[in-house]
Amino acid sequence: MQTPFNFGRTVKSECFTNREQEIKKLSSNFQNRINTIIISPRRWGKSSLVEKVAAQVRAKSLKVITIDLFGTRTEEEFYNTLTNAVIKATSSKAEEWIELGKKFLKSITPKFTVELGDKHNVSMELDHETIKKYYKELLDLPEKVAKEKNIDIVICIDEFQNIGTFSDHLALQKRLRSAWQHHERVTYCLYGSKQHMMMELFNKQSNPFYKFGELLYLPKITEQKWISYISRQFQKTKKEISTLQAAKIAQTVKCHPYYAQQLSHLVWINTDKKVTEAILFQSTQELLDQNAILYFKEAEDLNNTELNLMRAIAKNEKQLSSRDTIQRYRLGTSANVIKAKNTLIDKEIIDIHNGVAVFIDPVFELWFTQHLGN
Ligand SMILES: Nc1ncnc2c1ncn2[C@@H]1O[C@H](COP(=O)(O)OP(=O)(O)O)[C@@H](O)[C@H]1O
Ligand SMILES: [Mg+2]
Repeated sequence: MQTPFNFGRTVKSECFTNREQEIKKLSSNFQNRINTIIISPRRWGKSSLVEKVAAQVRAKSLKVITIDLFGTRTEEEFYNTLTNAVIKATSSKAEEWIELGKKFLKSITPKFTVELGDKHNVSMELDHETIKKYYKELLDLPEKVAKEKNIDIVICIDEFQNIGTFSDHLALQKRLRSAWQHHERVTYCLYGSKQHMMMELFNKQSNPFYKFGELLYLPKITEQKWISYISRQFQKTKKEISTLQAAKIAQTVKCHPYYAQQLSHLVWINTDKKVTEAILFQSTQELLDQNAILYFKEAEDLNNTELNLMRAIAKNEKQLSSRDTIQRYRLGTSANVIKAKNTLIDKEIIDIHNGVAVFIDPVFELWFTQHLGN
């Protein structure tokens, strides 16, 4: 029998749970042409949510285009990725696209090479010079196509903060913002996992993307939701798990969506008919083992003050700069504490929630406590 749990991919309907409110909000924004920015740590479910909503609202008159900037390193690649995605999504035949291209990219047409593959495979490769000269036409292409075809387009851009790493990115941001803010038939949904970079882009008054759209901070999924989801998935596959055991899975991973699915999967695999305490324990160890290499690597790069500070955080110390904490965890001076804290925040190992430092990755925290906690 196949596992009823899913991790490592965006989740499709049977494995998708909760998010009713966020679905409603995002879907309404898509339909009402409101730009949305979604921020959460990685693996909390941004891509899954966007895909889910995209599938729901996709209709003849509303096209959703998704691109991922994860591996995009330059402005040139960005324009190419965006333009090609727009082409692919808005024309069903190569001929149709060539027509649109001729009409809306007049000045560029002689310069681009269109590669005709099978019917969906039209792509073009624009060089640096062309992009520099005609970026505005490229950015306005979706708007023009949308108007021409009398449709609405939603462009979803994953790992959007990556544009902040391109050279001369401020100029790019300005160009994007000034083109996009005039688009009437194209709505943007921009999301990313590097929270600090995302906040920098969208929350800082001096930046071009300030107040570009509605900010949505995606929360984790609640313990209650996990309990019913996990119980349901076990039941469906004729295996037994108690409410308390399902709760324990959620608690072990602090309701982290990816890990909740991964640990549930391990428990499910290890269970013949009925979950036991021993199975829960063993599965948690397997979860730690599977991720250990990554965690070792992460810890290897840290200095002693940083490690000591993580020990304090793992022990739930709240006053990290207090004399008592500094002494107990050998943190040196309060200046050392601030420096170490900032490094850990930059490396996205910890985050500050309501003024308290916490680990971002709950399984890393568990591993850290077991291996380096003392
Ligand atoms: N709504 C959800 N219901 C159940 N599991 C989810 C949900 N959203 C995310 N997950 C779990 O988290 C994993 C990571 O989700 P993903 O959408 O890729 O996160 P992100 O884009 O924020 O990095 C998924 O593979 C799945 O295991
Ligand atoms: Mg994602």
